[in-house]
Formats: sequence, structure tokens, C-alpha cells
Amino acid sequence: MNIGSEKFASFPQTRLRRLRRHEWSRRLVRESRLVVDDLIWPLFICEGRQRAEPISSLPGVERLSVDRIVEAVAAAIDWGIPAIALFPATPAELKTPACQEALNPDNLVCRAVRAVKEAYADQVGVLCDVALDPYASHGHDGLVRDGYVVNDETVDMLCRQAVVQATAGCDIIAPSDMMDGRVGAIRQALDAANFQHVQIMAYAAKYASAFYGPFRDAVGSSANLGSGDKRTYQMDPANHAEALREVALDIAEGADSVMVKPGLPYLDIVQRVKDTFGVPTFAYQVSGEYAMLAAAAAQGWLDREQAIGESLLAFKRAGADGVLTYFAREVAELLYRR
Ligand code: PBG
Repeated sequence: MNIGSEKFASFPQTRLRRLRRHEWSRRLVRESRLVVDDLIWPLFICEGRQRAEPISSLPGVERLSVDRIVEAVAAAIDWGIPAIALFPATPAELKTPACQEALNPDNLVCRAVRAVKEAYADQVGVLCDVALDPYASHGHDGLVRDGYVVNDETVDMLCRQAVVQATAGCDIIAPSDMMDGRVGAIRQALDAANFQHVQIMAYAAKYASAFYGPFRDAVGSSANLGSGDKRTYQMDPANHAEALREVALDIAEGADSVMVKPGLPYLDIVQRVKDTFGVPTFAYQVSGEYAMLAAAAAQGWLDREQAIGESLLAFKRAGADGVLTYFAREVAELLYRR
């Protein structure tokens, strides 16, 4: 950015602290703002009735049975949160190498989507991940052949999974698998099944990150993955230009919006993506980021509200249009009180 500093008077005529002296003045010159419209709230689903299971690596986040999900979504709507994301903790006995449960129209996530849509229709947007890991006995996002996660065969499954989720009522299909060519294939499959209006938010630049650990505990996939990793399909944390290629491909294939993930450690990518493509760009403040902030706040080492607010504002400053964050409901409440 050219700030044209040669045109400015210098000190002592210019004193930048003048504008910072009072809160009313700081408010007038504030360049970015976090509002409730920026928030997408991820929720974890478990089997059962009236159940809320704590997740030890995500203190304050619980897996909720479908009936409790519906209650949580009522709160989200009350606080003005525009969309939620649903993630199933599939019972271990339903996880298989071929991930058939992903295509079951009565699987946990489909039942939750239907319940939310029956209760609230279009008062809230519902996003579903498309990837096979919640259904995989091996914990991978795709099908494994000879120890390798195969691309094209996985994409066929993902297309069917997307149609199953759209049939249940999902508004935003979010492929989080990082297979090549999946966005175009899913768009075609959705259109062929008459779901032209269903959006695709591509996890376009998704890195092979250590910050997903608590999420894998939440959906019960860490044990399945074991010592395995996702580096043959998720991006290398060292890469920058490659992220732009990933995003360019997903946009060309028909993504309505794109996402960068994780969030704060990859803020440079968020900014570059937004500046380069100008499309709706989202960031995922992932489970490990939540866990770090929550743990430090619990120790009294950080002011919880301030640290959460600052971390989310940073995404807006970088150019993100919105953020998926486990803090969404808490932040919505804070923003309302302010
Ligand atoms: C599954 C998926 C993951 C996350 C979102 N979807 C985990 C992974 O890729 O292993 C991570 C979200 C988080 O950490 O909060 N494909």
C-alpha cells in the first residue's frame, strides 16, 4: 500500500497519538470492525438425547445430541449469528475403510441438518464439511489404496456425499478434503441433482497443521489416524504461492467463497487471497487456536474477552469476510453488550 508519506508533514506538526487520545476519537478513525454478521459457529454432534459431552482439549466446547444442537442453534439465531457448521462424532462401530456411512441419508450430520432446517428454515445458514474422515476407520479424508489417499475415486465419493447432505437441507457444502478437482466435480453433481442454489465454500488453502489436534479429539478421529498424517493432500505450511494456485483453481471450478485454514498463523495467506482474488474469503480459527487462547485465559495469563476480540478483529483487518470460530456464540454476546 502506498501511504504517500512524502505528502505528510512530519513531527512535530504530525503527532499520530493525537487521534488516539480518547476513545471517541479512536472509534472515529477505526479501520476495521468485527460484527456478528462475520461469524460462523462450528458445532459438534453426538448420538443420544439431551446429551452434552465435554471435550477435554476444547474446554467450553461440547458435543451435543441432535435435540441439543437445535437448542444451541436457537441461541445462535437469537444472538444474530448468520450460519453454523455441523461436524459429526460418528460412533466408532460405523467407521469403515470404505466410509459408507458418509452416504447414509440418515447419518448423524444429516439428521442434525434436517432437525435444524425443520425448526428454523432459512433463519440460519447450515454448512457441512465434505470429507470422509468422520466415517473412516483409518482417519483419512479420502479412500486409501496401498497406503495412499487416492484422488479421483475419493472425489466420486465426495460428490455423492455432497448430494446426500444437500438433500438433507445443507445450504453450504464445504469440501475440506483437499483432493484435486473436487470443487468442479461437486458443483456438477449438485447441479445435476437440482441443487443449483446450494453454495460451495471451498477449504481452498488448507494446510497440514498441528492445530487441528483438538478437532480430531472432538470427532474421535485422532485414534483412527494414529501416527498418520495428511501431508500428501493438505498443504505444506511452508508454501505461499501454492495457496494462490489452489484458490485460483477452486474459483475457476465454481467455488462461491473460499477459506483459509488454520487462521491466525496463516493471516498472510488470508490477506494475499483477498487482495488477489477479491472473492468472499473466510478464515477458520481452528480448534488448536481456540485451545491456546482458552488455556491461557483459564490460567489467568490472558484476558479472555480481550484476547478473543483482538484475535478475531485481526482477521477483519487482514481482509477476511468472516470467520469460523468456536468462540462465535460468546463473541456474539460480547458484541451485543458493547
Ligand atoms: C476434516 C476437518 C478438519 C478440520 C475441519 N474439517 C480436521 C483435519 O483436516 O484433520 C479442522 C478444524 C479444527 O481444527 O477446528 N477434514
